[in-house]
Amino acid sequence: MRVAMIGAGYVGLVSGACFAEFGVDVCVVDTEVSKVEALRAGRIPIYEPGLDRLVEENARDGRLSFTTNLDEAINGADAVFLAVGTPSRRGDGHADLSYVFAAAEQVARAAKGPLVLVTKSTVPVGTGRKIKEILRKTRPDLEIEVASNPEFLREGNAIGDFMRPDRVVIGAESDRAFQVLRRLYRPLYLIETPIVQTGLETAELIKYAANAFLAVKITFINQMADLCEKAGADVHDVARGMGLDGRIGRKFLHAGPGYGGSCFPKDTLALARTAQELGAPVTIVEQTIAANDARKEAMAERVIAALGGSAAGKTVAVLGLTFKPETDDMRDAPSLVVVPRLVEAGATIRTYDPQPSHARQMMPAGVQFAETALDAVESADAVVLLTEWNEFRALSPQKLKSAMRGDVVLDLRNAWDPAAFREAGFTYQSIGRQ
Ligand code: UDX
Repeated sequence: MRVAMIGAGYVGLVSGACFAEFGVDVCVVDTEVSKVEALRAGRIPIYEPGLDRLVEENARDGRLSFTTNLDEAINGADAVFLAVGTPSRRGDGHADLSYVFAAAEQVARAAKGPLVLVTKSTVPVGTGRKIKEILRKTRPDLEIEVASNPEFLREGNAIGDFMRPDRVVIGAESDRAFQVLRRLYRPLYLIETPIVQTGLETAELIKYAANAFLAVKITFINQMADLCEKAGADVHDVARGMGLDGRIGRKFLHAGPGYGGSCFPKDTLALARTAQELGAPVTIVEQTIAANDARKEAMAERVIAALGGSAAGKTVAVLGLTFKPETDDMRDAPSLVVVPRLVEAGATIRTYDPQPSHARQMMPAGVQFAETALDAVESADAVVLLTEWNEFRALSPQKLKSAMRGDVVLDLRNAWDPAAFREAGFTYQSIGRQ
């Protein structure tokens, strides 16, 4: 089979490389010349564990290629995937679909025969139908089916999620479209992956419903954590006690500084807007968005309070800047709220992140970047653990204590052992625990 993937961003690259690994011929197309040149030379523009090897091997074996030429990419393709960006539109939070619609029109103009056009990008319910309209207007002579095949890839674990998904969702309106997509995912039948076949609108909504539900779940446990602090309870045990109920499940009940990333903030906002417009507001999601925004601000205030009410003249070491471990992605990371607020309050900030490439461009002027966690904490008054990279878990409290000037620890991911830190002489605070 042959597939064209439009967009060499996170989703397009991972999906393209994984389809190639399934044995499909994949051509990834992007308008950015420098990106395509880099990929051809084997350089991957994002950090995702295992992706470099997958791209290299499949490119070497001739199943994966990169181009800026859309006509060439879609020539002979059984399916063309749209994996272009759908950022939040400035001002109203709606998903910006201009890239999706432009790409769909381009595909329609360039198509030489029937094909299936599949949205992989997260698009609001109703987008597939609008794409159909564009295709019909641009090429009334040609049969181009539209399908929706949303991705559920977690950054840092994207290849595993693609190769061993909980489910594959296919939304379409013709047997041919279902058949093409089922053939592409055939390797997953061996591991008995459930395939959910639905209409276009339903598939589009499944993606938003899943992401919004997870965002609500995280926000719920974050608010429980605040309550635990007031009530003298332990959020870790509350989460365990709740999560062992099979109906609730233990995942996504880790209290922290608020969710970030490329999906939850943007998708919750887009879902809330669409629902309002359709006259069926999802108020629980609206409240989740507000609570999560407020939480990131509250984390900065918590650090200032732990410093005795003023950060002026204090040195704060911040460990972890990315929105979660195993990625270099900074989109909507709590650090983007917490660090600027501390700088504004007069603190000197020294940070360390194992993947600081994007963070370097996004932190306020004057923020220092250390080469190791221990360098970051040198003579600091306080240390804030903001992203739970594995290498931070093993840090010795004694070593931290002897490197630091002060004794304040804010473990905003509950990654460290409170008893060990208190024993080392720290004033240790975490989330939702005494
Ligand atoms: C998410 C979805 O999981 C994925 O299915 C979707 O396609 C894209 O969005 P991702 O953004 O990579 O994936 O990250 P994820 O691991 O889901 O975490 C999102 C955010 O929630 C992070 O900021 C993380 O720190 C936070 N989180 C997650 C918590 O605070 N607590 C949890 O229990 C889980």
